[in-house]
Amino acid sequence: MTMPSAIDTITIRRPDDWHVHLRDGAMLAAVLPFTAAQFARAIIMPNLTPPITTIEAARAYRERILAALPPGANFQPLMTCYLTDHTDPDEIAQGYAEGVWVAAKLYPAGATTNAHHGVTDLANIGGVLARMERIGMHLLIHGESTDPEVDIFDRESVFIERTLIGLLRAHPGLRIVLEHITTEGAADFVRAHANQCAATITPHHLLINRTSLFQGGLRPHLYCLPVAKRERHRLALRRAATSGDACFFLGTDTAPHPAGAKEAACGCAGCFVAPTALACYAQVFDEENALANLEKFASLNGPAWYGLPPNEARVTLRRATSRQPAEIALGDERVVIFRGDEPLAWSLS
Ligand code: DOR
Ligand code: ZN
Repeated sequence: MTMPSAIDTITIRRPDDWHVHLRDGAMLAAVLPFTAAQFARAIIMPNLTPPITTIEAARAYRERILAALPPGANFQPLMTCYLTDHTDPDEIAQGYAEGVWVAAKLYPAGATTNAHHGVTDLANIGGVLARMERIGMHLLIHGESTDPEVDIFDRESVFIERTLIGLLRAHPGLRIVLEHITTEGAADFVRAHANQCAATITPHHLLINRTSLFQGGLRPHLYCLPVAKRERHRLALRRAATSGDACFFLGTDTAPHPAGAKEAACGCAGCFVAPTALACYAQVFDEENALANLEKFASLNGPAWYGLPPNEARVTLRRATSRQPAEIALGDERVVIFRGDEPLAWSLS
C-alpha cells in the first residue's frame, strides 16, 4: 500500500485575523508588527482604558495604529465600538455609515480584561441591537456569563443557554460572532444557527486544554478568558476549525500583557499569540490532515461572513522548523510569547 505523500508547502490567500487586541502606546508599537506581518486585515478590539465608545475615539485609535505600522506594511485595521449601558443607537449607526467601525463588541460587564464598562443587562441596549439589526451591523460577543455563582468552566455554556438563545430570538436579523469559542456545545450551537451566527477560534484553544494550565505547576501565560476547557472540547474545536464550515474562521485573540501583570498573585487573562499564530494554526490543520481547509478557515470564511472580498495576495507556509523568541521587550518589562522559544513545525515564507 502506498501512503499519500505528506504536503510540505501550502500556498493560500493572505489571511485576516478577525479578533485582535493591539492595545496602545508602547505596547501597540511592540506587538503590531507581528500581526501586520501575517494578516492583511484585523478586527481590532476596543477594550482600551478608557474603552473605544465613540466615533471620534475609534478614528483616532485607527490613526495611531496606522502610524505605528512598520514601513511598507500592508495592513488594514477594522475598528469596533465597545458597547456600554449608555451607547447611543445614533452614534452606532453614524459610525457604521461613515465606515469608521465594522462591528460592535458586547462585553458582559466584568466578564474579562477591561470589561467593567460593559453591558450590565441586555435590556439596556435593546435599541442599539434593534438598530444594528436594521442596518446590518455585526455584533461580536464575549460569550460568558458573569453570574458569580456560575463555575468558571461553565460560563460559556451558561451564557448560551441564558442569554444567547434569547438574543437570537429577539433579533432574528442580527448577525452575531461568538468570539473565541472554547466548548463543544458552542461549536454545535453555532453550526446549528449558522444563518445568524459564526465563531472565531484561537490557536491556543486548539492546542491546550485546562490541564495544560497546571502542567508541572501554575502556567500564568496560558491563562486567558474564556479559560481553556477539557480535552474533549479542544478536540471538538479542532473538528470545527478544520471542517471548512463557513461559520468558523480565524481569530487569534492575541492579548498581550506585561509579564509582571501575569506572573502575579492575581494574574490577568490573555495570551500573546500573534508571533506564532499562523505556524500554530498550520500545525493543527496538518495534525488533523486538513491542510486543504486551512485557506477556508484563515482567508475565505471570514471575509465571506463580513461581506468583504478575500485578499488577492498569497502566502506560502512550509513544513520547516521555525522558532520565535521567548519574549519581546517592552521598556523595562517583557511580553511572553505563546509557544515562544519552542520549535514550530511550520514557517511562513
Ligand atoms: O484572555 C483574555 N484577554 N480574554 C479577553 O476576552 C480579553 C483579553 C484581554 O484584553 O486581555
Ligand atoms: Zn479578545
